[in-house]
Amino acid sequence: MSEQNQTSNTSHYRPVPESVMTASRSELNNVELNILDGKLPEDISGHVFVIAPVGSVDSGGLPYVDGTPIFNGDGMIYRFDFDKPESARVTTKIAKTPDYYADLATRPGSKYEKYRFRNLGMGRVSLSLGLRNQLSTAFLAMKFSPEESDRLLLNLDGGRPYEIDPQTLETVTPVGSNQEWRAQAETPLKFTFEPVLSTAHPVFDPNTKEVFTVNYGRSVGNILQAIPLIDDLDQIPEEIDELLERLAEFVRVEYIQDFLQIFFQFSDNLLQFYVNLFAKIAGVDVDNFVYLIRWDGKGDLERWRVVLPDKTPVKIEQTMHQIGMSQDYVILMDTAFQFGLEQVINNPVPNKKGVDQTIQAFLGRPQSPNTTLYIIPRRQLKKGQYPLRNDLEVEVVAQKVVIPLETVHFLVDYENPDNQIILHLAHISAWDGAQWIRNYDKSPYPPHNPVEPRLHGMITNALDISRMGRYRVDADSGKVITSQKIYDSRCTWGIGYYAYRDLSTTTIPNRLENIYWTSLGLWKELISDSVFQLYKDYKYRAVPTEELLRLADTGIPAQLYRIYTSDESLKIGDRYEFPNGYMVNSAQFIPRGDIQGDSTDGYIFCAVLSGIGNEIWIFDAQDLASGPLCQLSHPSLDFGFTIHTAWLAEIAPRNASYHIGVRQDYQDIVKQRSKDIQELFEQEIYPHFEG
Ligand SMILES: [Fe+2]
Repeated sequence: MSEQNQTSNTSHYRPVPESVMTASRSELNNVELNILDGKLPEDISGHVFVIAPVGSVDSGGLPYVDGTPIFNGDGMIYRFDFDKPESARVTTKIAKTPDYYADLATRPGSKYEKYRFRNLGMGRVSLSLGLRNQLSTAFLAMKFSPEESDRLLLNLDGGRPYEIDPQTLETVTPVGSNQEWRAQAETPLKFTFEPVLSTAHPVFDPNTKEVFTVNYGRSVGNILQAIPLIDDLDQIPEEIDELLERLAEFVRVEYIQDFLQIFFQFSDNLLQFYVNLFAKIAGVDVDNFVYLIRWDGKGDLERWRVVLPDKTPVKIEQTMHQIGMSQDYVILMDTAFQFGLEQVINNPVPNKKGVDQTIQAFLGRPQSPNTTLYIIPRRQLKKGQYPLRNDLEVEVVAQKVVIPLETVHFLVDYENPDNQIILHLAHISAWDGAQWIRNYDKSPYPPHNPVEPRLHGMITNALDISRMGRYRVDADSGKVITSQKIYDSRCTWGIGYYAYRDLSTTTIPNRLENIYWTSLGLWKELISDSVFQLYKDYKYRAVPTEELLRLADTGIPAQLYRIYTSDESLKIGDRYEFPNGYMVNSAQFIPRGDIQGDSTDGYIFCAVLSGIGNEIWIFDAQDLASGPLCQLSHPSLDFGFTIHTAWLAEIAPRNASYHIGVRQDYQDIVKQRSKDIQELFEQEIYPHFEG
């Protein structure tokens, strides 16, 4: 493994910027951004879309006061327009699904408050209605015919994708009706909004005009059977809470393996409840399923059940945050990001520190240190099952590949000569994006003070240096032919977002030669003792834990850098180190010129957080090192921790005909519910989508 070093200036630690923990829910309309510094390039063009979670209907934006992770929030869509000379404007809108309106109508104090939603870990849940689909993670740009204007999907890990109108930013239609998606696990609770697992990063092939995504389920047992009890647990006496807190310390410090035995020493009902819960999680193996879904932009969803060569079903252990595609293959991945129904039990009783701490001590587990891939030949995808038509299930066989070091984001070259695929993997070593700073967390530095309350709910730091990997894999045998890996002592701490030059909906590059990445950096305030314990014995550790703590004490700033990748070399070609105390998110390539352009010909847009506030920075993609060409901001632009992006050359009102009406989608489910829930839909949900 090679390392590229850069001499750095002596730096002083600066705290995590306040602005990352705040976000406004106010929707903006065509607000002209102020140029703080530099000049907007004359040939910058098109529209950049950014998505960010901005709190819930009853939080008034961010910060949360109760330590809820900041990633649990409604998606706010930001569109930055660069279509007029010397002007950049922003328009924003919250993604409003039917369950958003259900959330709004069931707020505390409302007529329907008994159905209210609560933040439970990374999910927002109503024990009567089900899980919110917050549409807060990533876009997919699509165009299926020349007559159609460019289309945009909004996606997340835990729910169906929805199409939005790029012009009005309205949430228009789910892709696939409720009947076409299968819930994560069958529960006896009859949720109206079922928990559905998909991918935040589906793919679109502009050559064949196909979208691929996934729908999967995972073994968590019938845990939800027990959940109605949780309402009663709101009344947990303080003593039990304290007892649980102490128990959690004991479990963590003494590394007792047989947790259940300890629990059985107590006869309290509450503890018995958790014993049952854990036993179920450990012992029940419900149906694991993975469907690969194909969609043509207009018709019903078509799907295949993914199985291994021995016909056993593919079993996803974590998530499928991203999928990849080449000319002849679709690549699925078990990604290093733990999100799902388990989140509900990860934090079942908000504001009860002891309960949360105990469950974290039990269930908190490091993610797998390896990357598992499933490669599906597209030639097998002849005719699948249309779930709406009562077709029989159709199987497709995937080749399994395991590569050391975990991954959450990856890209694939479109061309696959000799059936060999090129994978670009961002190995986020010892870093789980679904871990956050808990309100009981302590610093790993003596004297182990509690973490700062202002950071409760913030993502934790990577606990080893990330690596960039490039692999050539024989798609049919699954054999890894070549493997290149690098890391950089400044650039690759917590690899975050990627960007590369494509022309969005019309062309896809055959090969990725230059890929831009951001990194979070290293922040001592974002290392909690509980996560430190989870990852200190990380299998592929490159930086010893003592060194990690020493480096974090001074801090390593966020970075934006370009990786040049070829068979011969994998290296950092250009880099920019942000000032201390800054964070960078949501990198997006804005191409310059035409289809033939070089893979560095354009600009890099990114969202920057500082101690002062939120800014948009524009870099020349051919010269990151010189710093931003232009910095933009506005007092009303308050976005917090933004996630993924998309770029469209032009926007026009959506003119596609695909549409699933909300009544048509929900009426069969709602008629089996109580009169109250039927009334909730008639009065508070359907009217927003009809007329
Ligand atoms: Fe992502």
